[in-house]
Amino acid sequence: MEATKQDNVEAGSGSPDALAMLEADHRAVEKLFKAFEKTADDDLEAKAALAQRACEELSIHTMLEEELLYPAAHEALPDSDKIDVEEAYVEHFLVKTLIAKFETMKVGDKGFDATFKVMSEMVNHHVEEEEKELFPELRKSTCNLRALGDGMAKRKAQLQSKLDKAGSKAVGDKTATL
Ligand SMILES: [Fe+2]
Ligand SMILES: [Fe+2]
Repeated sequence: MEATKQDNVEAGSGSPDALAMLEADHRAVEKLFKAFEKTADDDLEAKAALAQRACEELSIHTMLEEELLYPAAHEALPDSDKIDVEEAYVEHFLVKTLIAKFETMKVGDKGFDATFKVMSEMVNHHVEEEEKELFPELRKSTCNLRALGDGMAKRKAQLQSKLDKAGSKAVGDKTATL
């Protein structure tokens, strides 16, 4: 659907703004990172639950961006800004590699906390770049953020229900089987 810049700032269409949705995800994941940091070293149950939740949230979030946001950004942004989309894909690759490491580790194992810390630092860096560079560029573009938000909300509900059905038994990226 064609959209004008004005469509992105007009409120009340009923559709969610894609970037506002993604920013809400960012805040949710940051909370999980902070909670993990504050958890006592020996509270393995809490750490396992937080790590699992963060991996699930991040798996769905990265899929939504890669399936819907980044292709739209690549199309809508001028050549000079496309590098930000390319960088985002590379950073996602690194984050997903760390998420996958949790499939072979359990809480309390050597390296578990370190992997979680490095993953959270990498995500924080990536989120900062998205919110300071990519998202503002998209807000200035003609990309229809409400139509995108609509599609994103539907896809998110679908991924979430598949994840719920798959059950949450272990830490790791379950979306690989979706
Ligand atoms: Fe991202
Ligand atoms: Fe993001």
